[in-house]
Amino acid sequence: MNKNRIKIDIKKLNLWYSDTQALHEVEIKIKKNQITALIGPSGCGKSTFLRCLNRMNDLVADVKITGDIVIDDKNIYDKDVDEVSVRKRVGMVFQQPNPFPKSIYDNIAYAPLKHGMVKKGKLCDKLVEESLKSAGIWDEVKNILNNPGTSLSGGQQQRVCIARTIAIKPDIILMDEPTSALDPISTQKIEALMLRLKKLYTIIIVTHNMQQAGRVADMTAFFHLGELIEYDKTKKIFLNPTKKKTEDYITGRFG
Ligand SMILES: Nc1ncnc2c1ncn2[C@@H]1O[C@H](COP(=O)(O)OP(=O)(O)OP(=O)(O)O)[C@@H](O)[C@H]1O
Ligand SMILES: [Mg+2]
Repeated sequence: MNKNRIKIDIKKLNLWYSDTQALHEVEIKIKKNQITALIGPSGCGKSTFLRCLNRMNDLVADVKITGDIVIDDKNIYDKDVDEVSVRKRVGMVFQQPNPFPKSIYDNIAYAPLKHGMVKKGKLCDKLVEESLKSAGIWDEVKNILNNPGTSLSGGQQQRVCIARTIAIKPDIILMDEPTSALDPISTQKIEALMLRLKKLYTIIIVTHNMQQAGRVADMTAFFHLGELIEYDKTKKIFLNPTKKKTEDYITGRFG
């Protein structure tokens, strides 16, 4: 596997909500099998940017997007691309764990069954088990698979949500502040999980926690007012940023 392979190439990305421009000419190349952190003050466009990567902004009324997001040599905004297939390849985990109001088993099995990836029975059971194992939650739930997903703790629910994302076999996983609602131990488990998962997936995480970016991310992108200010190796961003604005932000002078 070539570590330097570009998985996502974002070129001149602009986004408007009605008349208000929220992203300005953003350009980033995201490498395969790395973790990229997006940091920046509230309202700077991190979630907006993340939602462009799986075309979730298509679901928002009155959004205009220009530019290219090329995943594996194909622009996902080309007319012949079906956004449902994009969302299948680019999974997303949200800030608030959001299991479906279904059993733990059905939370994982629902989408693969719906997409016809497996039929009910042994293969489906196997996929559920593998996904829960990959998300590091199998041992905690293997005897209670019929209990509701919502009956678990927040940290367990978030790992079930990660298992649900993995079950549809994406190649990119987007995480929007996935640990900000969790306690330190659950946070540590999710961070360890991310480091294991990056061998198989390309991961992009939004975080307000600088230490978290430092612990998990290979690359870090700093956004401010809808612009990408600086994008570099995480160490460089935190120890020796090129731009004054980045330095001011990471040293807590604003934000
Ligand atoms: N659905 C929407 N409709 C209109 N404006 C929006 C919408 N979502 C976000 N915005 C605006 O776009 C800008 C960027 O918002 P975004 O949610 O991407 O920021 P963020 O960096 O994720 O912030 P936070 O750290 O608080 O989550 C903000 O000015 C916000 O008000
Ligand atoms: Mg956000």
